[in-house]
Amino acid sequence: MSILLGIDVGTSSTKALAVSPTGDILAESTASYPLHHPRPLWSEQSPEDWWQATVSVVRDVVKKVGGKRNSVTAIGLSGQMHGSVFLDKKYQVIRPALLWNDQRTAAECQEIENRVGGRKALIRMVANPALTGFTAPKIVWLRNHEPRNYDKVCHILLPKDYIRWRLTGELATDVSDASGTLLLDVANRDWNLKVLSKLEIDSRWLPACFESEDVTGQIAATVAESLGLSTECIVVGGAGDCAANAVGNGVVKSGLVASSLGTSGVVFAHSDEVQIDPQGRLHTFCHAVRDKWHLMGVTLSAAGSLEWFCQQIVKTGDPKASMDSLYDRVTSEASAVARGSQGLFFLPYLAGERTPHADPLARGSFVGLTLSHTRGHLVRSIMEGVAYSLRDCIQLMQELDVPIRQIRAGGGGARSPLWRQIQANVFGQKVVTLNAEQGPAYGVALLAAVGAGNYKNIQEACKATIHINSETPVQREPRQYYDRAFPVYRHLYQTLKDDFAAIANLEC
Ligand code: XUL
Repeated sequence: MSILLGIDVGTSSTKALAVSPTGDILAESTASYPLHHPRPLWSEQSPEDWWQATVSVVRDVVKKVGGKRNSVTAIGLSGQMHGSVFLDKKYQVIRPALLWNDQRTAAECQEIENRVGGRKALIRMVANPALTGFTAPKIVWLRNHEPRNYDKVCHILLPKDYIRWRLTGELATDVSDASGTLLLDVANRDWNLKVLSKLEIDSRWLPACFESEDVTGQIAATVAESLGLSTECIVVGGAGDCAANAVGNGVVKSGLVASSLGTSGVVFAHSDEVQIDPQGRLHTFCHAVRDKWHLMGVTLSAAGSLEWFCQQIVKTGDPKASMDSLYDRVTSEASAVARGSQGLFFLPYLAGERTPHADPLARGSFVGLTLSHTRGHLVRSIMEGVAYSLRDCIQLMQELDVPIRQIRAGGGGARSPLWRQIQANVFGQKVVTLNAEQGPAYGVALLAAVGAGNYKNIQEACKATIHINSETPVQREPRQYYDRAFPVYRHLYQTLKDDFAAIANLEC
């Protein structure tokens, strides 16, 4: 049987998933690595860590599916978006990659908008404003702050595309991931040479740009044997993790929206046309579906907020206690607390915030604590605060008349029935989950199936493999409560905004 592999280079781990052409999951493997914050607002990772994790998970799944070298016929790559891998002329990594949640580039965002003739001009050219997490500001930051490193740059790759380079020896990317660089002409699905020239970035540093299901290369002879793969195995374009997750949730036609609770939280709507938020609050990127686009809002610390709370605050003293057991414990405490967490609010801005505030200086906050609050209240308020931040994104979509017929919940956070219920009640709309829970890795395995010729297109692949598994309906009373509480949540940021900036000043 031909086997398809989906590889997702995430922020906390890399996952490989072996899938049959009919969409059955045959094996999976995960390997994690550290995230480095060498200074406040900085977030970095070592591309070599991604590669070592990829080697380990690929070997593991190949072994689990029987170890025959010809069995894997096609691979799809997905990964955290926006990260900058800088390579020198010998293809060596120059410095750790700056990641999507790195917030050091506020001045460079301003510089970029100035160079191209202002924010509106930039939105016209690349469909989006300059945001600190995107790739172009990271390139300009390197030029401004590490000129010696900048002088060495010969190639710039996104995280999953660095793995493609190690796997195939090809320098390539796909249109969905490339959209988050701020260097792509999103409407025409290719690099924007005008923006590159205004920013004085050499277009030869960028890889070739492909549609997500197109074949970009084959496994290189130098790595095939050690990975247990054949040199006949193709690697398709794949997708940034948001578009890959949408495909893995079957969000490949108008009216469908994915709400994902991973480290970041993402609300993702398919769009048949290039639809741009004139104010640039939502991202407009190419979809992993040929000639389609999507609108997206991103909240930077979603399940990442709960992870931070569990790691830093809920210490068990038992080194053997797994993160999953911690989540189970704190979520059951939160389940015992009534909706609204007794007036406690959490602003999930632990890494600043992207949508809707685009404010790198915003800070995470608990507001409304009293002596009667328990740990369960804190946890529930985190879940509610994250759901409000996703509702912020949904509200922007509603303002732009984006059709929202069905919300499909995914990501690690959606495994919690409590967090799904909170989402449905906060959104005021039922959320559904699907048979395939593996999001991005599953999505790119399906794109690999299309590239291998198992399906005519990705819509056909999703129709054949993805179906609804559960529905979480809206509950009347909590919904009414959240409708009243949401404006309070929104107002808190407005009230605290100047204080966040003042705090940042104190720290300088
Ligand atoms: C999307 C984004 C994040 C990362 C995390 O714009 O920044 O969702 O892709 O994986």
